[in-house]
Amino acid sequence: MILKRFILVMGIMLMAGTTVTTAQDATRSMRDLADLNRIHIGAAVYASHLNDPVHAETLAREFNMLTPENEAKACEVQNQLGEFDFRKFDRLMAFAEQHAMTVRGHTLVWHQCVPSWLQNAKFSRDEAIKLLRDHILTVVGRYKGRIPIWDVVNEAVADGGSGLRETPWKSLIGDDYVELAFRFAHEADPKALLFYNDYGAEPLNAKSDAVYALVKDLVKRGVPIHGVGLQMHISVGDVGPGKAIDPKALAENMQRLGELGLQVQITEMDVKFAGKPTEDILRRQAGDFRQVLETCLNVKYCTAFITWGVTDRFSWLRSPQFFSNPDVEPLLFDSDYKPKPAYFAVVDLLARRAGEPPLLSDDQVAAMVQDRPAAAVTLPKPTKTDPAQLSPDSVPGLAYYAPFPVSIKLDGDLSDWKNVPRVTVDKGPMLPANSDTKLTFAAAADKTNLYFMADVQDSKVVYGTHDPASEWYKEDSVEFYINATGDLTLTSYKKGVAQIGILAANITHPHKPILGGANSADSKVSVVAVKTDSGYRIEAAVPLITEVWKIEPRHLGLLGFQAHLNGSSGADRDTKLIWSAADTQDQSWQNPSLFGQLIFWDVATR
Ligand code: XIL
Repeated sequence: MILKRFILVMGIMLMAGTTVTTAQDATRSMRDLADLNRIHIGAAVYASHLNDPVHAETLAREFNMLTPENEAKACEVQNQLGEFDFRKFDRLMAFAEQHAMTVRGHTLVWHQCVPSWLQNAKFSRDEAIKLLRDHILTVVGRYKGRIPIWDVVNEAVADGGSGLRETPWKSLIGDDYVELAFRFAHEADPKALLFYNDYGAEPLNAKSDAVYALVKDLVKRGVPIHGVGLQMHISVGDVGPGKAIDPKALAENMQRLGELGLQVQITEMDVKFAGKPTEDILRRQAGDFRQVLETCLNVKYCTAFITWGVTDRFSWLRSPQFFSNPDVEPLLFDSDYKPKPAYFAVVDLLARRAGEPPLLSDDQVAAMVQDRPAAAVTLPKPTKTDPAQLSPDSVPGLAYYAPFPVSIKLDGDLSDWKNVPRVTVDKGPMLPANSDTKLTFAAAADKTNLYFMADVQDSKVVYGTHDPASEWYKEDSVEFYINATGDLTLTSYKKGVAQIGILAANITHPHKPILGGANSADSKVSVVAVKTDSGYRIEAAVPLITEVWKIEPRHLGLLGFQAHLNGSSGADRDTKLIWSAADTQDQSWQNPSLFGQLIFWDVATR
């Protein structure tokens, strides 16, 4: 531990070029922090790398997942027809199991590492299908139940996105070799998650459109496919708004794949550069890694982040066959296994997301990542003032920790909300002098709904005075906002973002809830409103699955979230209270980037 802390602090000093003065708690490994964030962090590994004890130790300490870099490929496991050799693959498996790491099987079908018997082969279609099936059944079958994720087909889409590239399997079988490969993998291990994996298809572009079309068609036809791997072999400076890997476009691509019911993983990230590594290059490289991971953490469908190697020393890009710079340092650890700025960028982000002390100052982060998303905020470590509380205290104006599962009934009674943290909002851009109007809210979820509660202190409850279709906000009302798109940086509304205005008029118990606000009807919210001695109270249930979103509560998973109160004395609105600190001008109705965060908190785990 002491050695590790020393190494980390040293690294930070080198990176910043100055001594770090703030207290650092760097005792947590990247792996521990990934576990806290419930995400897989992996690296590609050669079996022979395990001979190096420092490599083995670093791998097991810092990563919870590994990908055989070559050991699972066809030319390695079955280079002679019918003769399988799993010795190297078995070695990696044993290491992974010994260290409780998840293995990503990579890869069954690829146009490279083609076994000699398949090169220029002259099999009939039926013979080729049988060979494909034998290969997949033997490889996947051997590790059935032990490898939960397979890259079934790798790099099948042609560059530029025009159809499938020419490969031995395609020329022998036809385009349906892709579908057959997935079906055979499923036959071999029905529980394994099956991925299509490719490069150059990370943001929105012609190739990612082609990959999207391919997997959409597979899903539509019931072919067992469960995810898409985005390789992410990129160059320093590629990541940022308007650049090759625009985080927004990356998020949108992940989002559309996720909406097909697929997972997304960053499967082979490395960040290359020309020339010698300079401090500036390594700092910008850190920003690239950080922004890609940040996008992955922001999009709920993204479930793993894998780098193509542990140490720069063994990067495939060091060999002239693949890249022209023998000095390239594209990974998180340098040739001596010292963590690089990119490592700290990743670990700092994971720490912040888990509510652990940051490793880097905000200035250090800003120096790595220019134009960082507005929604990237620093949260303190979650704490509970009252130990009986089901989730941590909220962070004023920034984050609300919503416990789940909690069972709630919409009945106007708050006893089922006991121990769900409450937040009181008594500030906003519009508030008459001497007003004692206040909004107290809470949120929680169960398996089917996200619940909101608003207990409003208001000496005069006003409703039925305006046309709810156009001037609903001029009556007493509470607004809950949700951004379930996975992109918290959105600056305009789209499908998946809703402003759910709930009028006090619901006290009249209408058949259909009386709502206002952008996309409020999309939310399919149910409402119960009652009068209270001090004002009125609203309970609302928003289905987790609707036509516009699929919200899957998972520990530390997040949504964009906002709460407002409109108060009226009869004629017009005279009170506007706002929860999120970012929205000072009452602009949330048109700009979701001003929301705060709702962070799910699994009641069972803490
Ligand atoms: C590379 C390995 O890193 C090299 O060792 C090997 O010689 C060739 O393959 N995309 C992929 C990976 O899907 O399998 C490739 O791995 C890198 C590009």
